[in-house]
Amino acid sequence: MGTPLTSGSATLPSDAPLSADGDRHFEGLAEKFSAGLYGSPRGALRLALLDHCLPRQLELGGQPLLDVGGGLGQMAAWFAARGHDVTLAEPAEEMLARARQALAGQSVRFLREPLQRLPEAAPGPWPLIVCHAVFEWLADPEAALATLAGLLAPGGQLSLMVFNRDALRFSNVVKGNLEKALADRLEGTGRRQRLTPISPLTHDQIATWAEARGLEITAVAGIRVFQDYLRERHPDEAQLKQLLALERRYCDVEPHWRLGRYLLYTLHKPE
Ligand SMILES: C[S@@+](CC[C@H](N)C(=O)[O-])C[C@H]1O[C@@H](n2cnc3c(N)ncnc32)[C@H](O)[C@@H]1O
Repeated sequence: MGTPLTSGSATLPSDAPLSADGDRHFEGLAEKFSAGLYGSPRGALRLALLDHCLPRQLELGGQPLLDVGGGLGQMAAWFAARGHDVTLAEPAEEMLARARQALAGQSVRFLREPLQRLPEAAPGPWPLIVCHAVFEWLADPEAALATLAGLLAPGGQLSLMVFNRDALRFSNVVKGNLEKALADRLEGTGRRQRLTPISPLTHDQIATWAEARGLEITAVAGIRVFQDYLRERHPDEAQLKQLLALERRYCDVEPHWRLGRYLLYTLHKPE
């Protein structure tokens, strides 16, 4: 094991599979991510809720969009089906190859680039940027928000989804990981094949960073405010349907949205 590097509150070994920026690119994780998330009821619920929330949160008129850390391409497919020209940027070759395959024939351009390179590789400015479930894999998510703010056109919208640190604490307590919760040791290290995020974030962090960059939060919702806390590990179809109805009803209602596994924001750059 090499010399440790410090990133936020996580200590990372120098031989960890991290990028030069200290980020966890999903090289070698495509199958695990595909089967473990999108192949499960959690992934289906995430997509169903995004399908519910995005048209309510965003002003959509077929504008071109940049999908940052687009992964396997689920969101790119959603926007392409609604008439948007999508540029999907993703640093992990393996994820990008799968996205290319899944989106063959659709109006999507692919860039193998990390977020940090986009000011040169895809300067825009963009009327719409999507960045979902990426910040939690970055060593410096605050700098990433500054970069995205710079890529947005005046009047542009950023759909940002982040992994919620407060929900992570709550679920650790529910699962009985009391020592971890007491020590507030919630971050993953980005090592090996673990999918525990290295930078879970709080609403206060997003609100502070957005304000510092002149971005207004015009909408916020919690994605999966109930599902991760269910006692029933394998809900049946009928229960999943009821759960979706509850998630839809309370995703943007106080206080429930604050404990969503993910927080979904629309950030607007004033004209
Ligand atoms: C949890 S996946 C989310 C994928 C997709 N946005 C979605 O919502 O399904 C996180 C993705 O972020 C990518 N990623 C990690 N570091 C990145 C960086 N510096 N720039 C852009 N993407 C990055 C990973 O390779 C991975 O594909």
